[in-house]
Amino acid sequence: MRNIVLIGFMGTGKTSVGHVLAERLGLAFVDMDASIEEREGRPITEIFATDGEPYFRTVERAVVQELATKDGLVIGTGGGVVLDPDNISDFSATGLVVCLQATPETILERVAHDTNRPLLAGDDKMQKILGILDKRRHLYAALPHQVDTNGLTVDDVAEMIVALYEGPDD
Ligand code: S3P
Repeated sequence: MRNIVLIGFMGTGKTSVGHVLAERLGLAFVDMDASIEEREGRPITEIFATDGEPYFRTVERAVVQELATKDGLVIGTGGGVVLDPDNISDFSATGLVVCLQATPETILERVAHDTNRPLLAGDDKMQKILGILDKRRHLYAALPHQVDTNGLTVDDVAEMIVALYEGPDD
């Protein structure tokens, strides 16, 4: 059974939707950030602070390679997984890859009080969101299935993805 791989910027709902989706389909949910933390035995913020983003990306890549060999999983990725095209081709080989979208305003609302995202740490979160989005927009846009989550509940989004997963086309 194919995996379902949820991709998208921070705050687009990958983890919340992933849980609901997995429950509805009777599949296991894997949160990649949690897998990375478990593998490293320390939180994401500490990995970034001590070893930097490039190191984090190598661990992230290793986790993708491992998860892409499995099946029947709902996988919630970290927002930067699109930065390495090999991550997308590996996940696409064994899963339905879906990109969740949200406007910068919705993203800001969802991450405003969050302290676990080193790339958005500190003040001026909106400027940081816009800067990162600008660099990644084309990577997210290139993904085959797009789901606009603005104004939708987690259940609505999960339902749309169930339809994609069970639908005739893919
Ligand atoms: C990141 C997103 C985070 C986490 C890390 C880097 C990114 O995951 O992997 O902080 O580069 O966009 P979420 O998208 O789950 O917040």
